Amino acid sequence: MQKSQEELISELSTVMERFSAQSDALELAYKALEMQAEQLKKMQEEVNQSRVLSALGEMAATVAHEIRNPLGGIGGYASLLARGIPPEDPKRKYVDKIIGGISSLNKIVGNLLAYTRKTNLQKQSTDLISWAETILAHAEIEIEKEKKKVSIERSFPAEPLNAEIDGERLQQVMLNLLINGIQAIEVEGKIFVSIRSNENFAEITVADTGKGIEQENLKNIFTPFFTTKEQGTGLGLAIVKKIVDLHEGEISVESVFGKGTKFCIRVPV
Ligand SMILES: Nc1ncnc2c1ncn2[C@@H]1O[C@H](COP(=O)(O)OP(=O)(O)OP(=O)(O)O)[C@@H](O)[C@H]1O
Ligand SMILES: [Mg+2]
Repeated sequence: MQKSQEELISELSTVMERFSAQSDALELAYKALEMQAEQLKKMQEEVNQSRVLSALGEMAATVAHEIRNPLGGIGGYASLLARGIPPEDPKRKYVDKIIGGISSLNKIVGNLLAYTRKTNLQKQSTDLISWAETILAHAEIEIEKEKKKVSIERSFPAEPLNAEIDGERLQQVMLNLLINGIQAIEVEGKIFVSIRSNENFAEITVADTGKGIEQENLKNIFTPFFTTKEQGTGLGLAIVKKIVDLHEGEISVESVFGKGTKFCIRVPV
């Protein structure tokens, strides 16, 4: 039986509808594929970028390592030279400037090495209280060097508190936090250090009554090379973060601009 013209038209329009639905689906699939291709391209770029960064990091570490020895030699000779020149001699000023410059370079090289060094932690059972006291003695020397009136207040448990940590690497963490605190205090202020622990983690806080961190800077402080200081490398807190991460710990910061800053570290025990 022959189909009527109307039936043919209706069938044709059904086919057309199906075709158009399929072509919509195809277009959607094509768009999704395009997006995925874009994402893949981005990921590829990120992988390339991180390869470049890691090669650069290795190069920085090698250069820093190579610079360290001659720098030590130059520093030694400059100190010998200074010893032979009396303080009132105008030449002494220049030698002192050389020594100051070398000490800045040493800090940059040391920080670059500390940041780029591939490290495995050497964990040992450590009494956090005596460990902290040794570090605070270093901080007192720093306070004297900076000629500031900074008092350190402790909140430590009375009993020894043992934790499995890499004491040497975590000492770098504490020192960086303490030195930042001292530097944030203009002339006079306080630094509070507390240590406590429970069955899961040990918690160390370092708080200062210094100038605080501007809100817009807070998100950048752990980024390598971010600094607001003329003589800063901006690597201090990046090193801190790296070492805390290696301990599978956490670090948090609270700061009120003009009032002070508090860093809190938790490491699992
Ligand atoms: N306790 C603090 N009080 C106020 N600002 C701080 C404090 N700690 C860190 N900052 C801010 O974070 C920035 C980054 O600190 P970080 O220790 O990484 O580098 P830096 O101190 O500038 O340089 P370096 O550590 O090489 O001396 C500082 O320049 C400062 O702006
Ligand atoms: Mg610092």
